[in-house]
Amino acid sequence: MRWSSISPPSLAVLLLLRTASAFYLPGVAPTDYNQGDPVSLNVNRLTPAVIASTQQVESLISYDYYHEYFHFCLPKGGPEKISESLGSILFGDRILTSPFELKMAQNETCKLLCTQTHDSRSAKFTNMRIWQGYNLNWLIDGLPAATLTSAVGDESTQFYSQGFALGSLTGGDGDKFRQPVLNNHYDIIVDYHRIPGRKEKPFRVVGVVVQPSSKKPKVSGDKKIADCTVAGDPVQLSESGNTEVTYTYSVIWMESPTAWATRWDKYLHVFDPRIHWFSLVNSAIIVIFLTGMVSMVLLKTLRKDIARYNQLDLNEDVQEDSGWKLVHGDVFRPPMNPMLLSIFLGSGAQIFFMTGITIMFALLGFLSPSGRGSLATAMIILYTLLGFVGGYTSARVYKSFGGESWKKNILFTPIFIPGVVFGTFFFLNFFLIWKGSSGAVPLWTMIALICIWFVISLPLSFTGSWFGFRAPAIEAPVRTNQIPRQIPEQALYLKPLPSMLLVGILPFGAIFVELYFIMSSIWFHRVYYMFGFLFVCYGIMIITCSTVTILMIYFLLCSENYHWHWRAFFISGASAFYVVLNAFIYWLSKLSLGGLASNVLYLGYSLLIGFLFFILTGTIGFFSSWYFVKKIYASIKID
Ligand SMILES: *[C@@H]1O[C@H](CO)[C@@H](O)[C@H](O)[C@H]1NC(C)=O
Repeated sequence: MRWSSISPPSLAVLLLLRTASAFYLPGVAPTDYNQGDPVSLNVNRLTPAVIASTQQVESLISYDYYHEYFHFCLPKGGPEKISESLGSILFGDRILTSPFELKMAQNETCKLLCTQTHDSRSAKFTNMRIWQGYNLNWLIDGLPAATLTSAVGDESTQFYSQGFALGSLTGGDGDKFRQPVLNNHYDIIVDYHRIPGRKEKPFRVVGVVVQPSSKKPKVSGDKKIADCTVAGDPVQLSESGNTEVTYTYSVIWMESPTAWATRWDKYLHVFDPRIHWFSLVNSAIIVIFLTGMVSMVLLKTLRKDIARYNQLDLNEDVQEDSGWKLVHGDVFRPPMNPMLLSIFLGSGAQIFFMTGITIMFALLGFLSPSGRGSLATAMIILYTLLGFVGGYTSARVYKSFGGESWKKNILFTPIFIPGVVFGTFFFLNFFLIWKGSSGAVPLWTMIALICIWFVISLPLSFTGSWFGFRAPAIEAPVRTNQIPRQIPEQALYLKPLPSMLLVGILPFGAIFVELYFIMSSIWFHRVYYMFGFLFVCYGIMIITCSTVTILMIYFLLCSENYHWHWRAFFISGASAFYVVLNAFIYWLSKLSLGGLASNVLYLGYSLLIGFLFFILTGTIGFFSSWYFVKKIYASIKID
């Protein structure tokens, strides 16, 4: 964790945690070694990387390391699966054992791995992957093998980027004459740390860099000893015949002063920390501006309104002429389709708390990058457990709307949103299966997910609903008239679409820089860890959503339009439209995806994220407006 990137309050909490506890979280305890102890080298899937010349990604499909067309050397007895967390599997990690033999603090030069034969079909496949810039992902003692890179324009600061190249392109100037070359030799440079003063098992792995290269090694007669020093031609896979490839590796152990606890720091390079501060200041200004405006409206105008209305009531002959008081007999009329709205609000509350708690955990350092997929696992577990909150919210809201089909409400609350998410996921999974990608979620994981949902989430949600229906309905402070009022002609900015576009952009503005980094972490496989910023951004987004929605609802009521329920949900939720639009622009500018599957996957996931974001922000907007409307109508006297 880099201290510079964390906000002061979280830093304080973190320091407290660090100093108060010498315990390690499960799965992330250090492994200690004696000299010569075997160190595990496991292989993960191959992922597409950013192409240096264009700064774009050309594919989203990942492949199993032991995909039949790659012909990498197999360990004796075949590769074995390494157990992983649910989140890690869902996010596409497939970790298997490898034939590499690493011994702590023992250098090796040019060890022969095996010789494999590529036929023309597998050569075509592999060459294509080299063109698309695929990376190999290895894990050595749980640490991803990295490439040493430096920032563009700043060669002095070096940092690790995960993975290293499958191959490279050589020769020629134009793309036409360049040839893909397969890397068949790996220089594995492992940094180890010696714990001062310790006799037994003093060594720990603290850094791994792999420098791959392509050369034809000289293999001596008995095929056991290879010589990597000969400067042979690079290995090009022939697409018209068979090519023999000999794989070799060297291991160089370097002593390092880096302590185990900080071994992830080099991976967590902040590309430009200023941009985060800039965005934070930017969103803070939005929030100050908005809260200023809202408090002005609330404190000045409303107080004046309330005083005036209460005075008007005293001298009865004065006619009420305009303003929000006129709609007091309609404003608490239940909305159209109360069932759907309460289901949305139930799931929205669930997503709201899930996101908040996950970010908080991450901020406190519980979800470190070393626990692979821990973020996703935490989210799934939290969403499941928060089924109670979802059921309760949905039931209570539905009851307050005077809904009567409570059985339907109880049943659909835990089914609707998870159903949409799971359905989309299932559909997109077919594209991964079709492409032979390792990213496809295995059937067993799917079944496990459904089981978790049936056994834990569903009963919890039902229990929550039961409590929700038992709880008293939220009473309106004023009575609702029998006959609905006529709604006068509305100003343009209060019409549904313009008001949505107007309001939605502000919460989006509060988060879009962080969103950019989250997206590059998802699509470019970079580690995201700036949870301090994310936490503040989430708070700012919540405040922005509620204030700006309240403001718009106030204007709406002033123009005697009392259909505020769905409107509040939609204007706040409209920020999801900008999130999807942003994803679309990202698609055009940062990705040049070849093939149908990658494009469908990208758009599918973007729409899914947009939908969840819509539910989340809509819920925030609705509840704050509800609170506001109740407050202002409770404060006026009505005969
Ligand atoms: C391994 O080789 C490198 C470079 O040749 C050297 O600096 C290092 O000390 C060696 N490590 C061990 C444990 O012998």
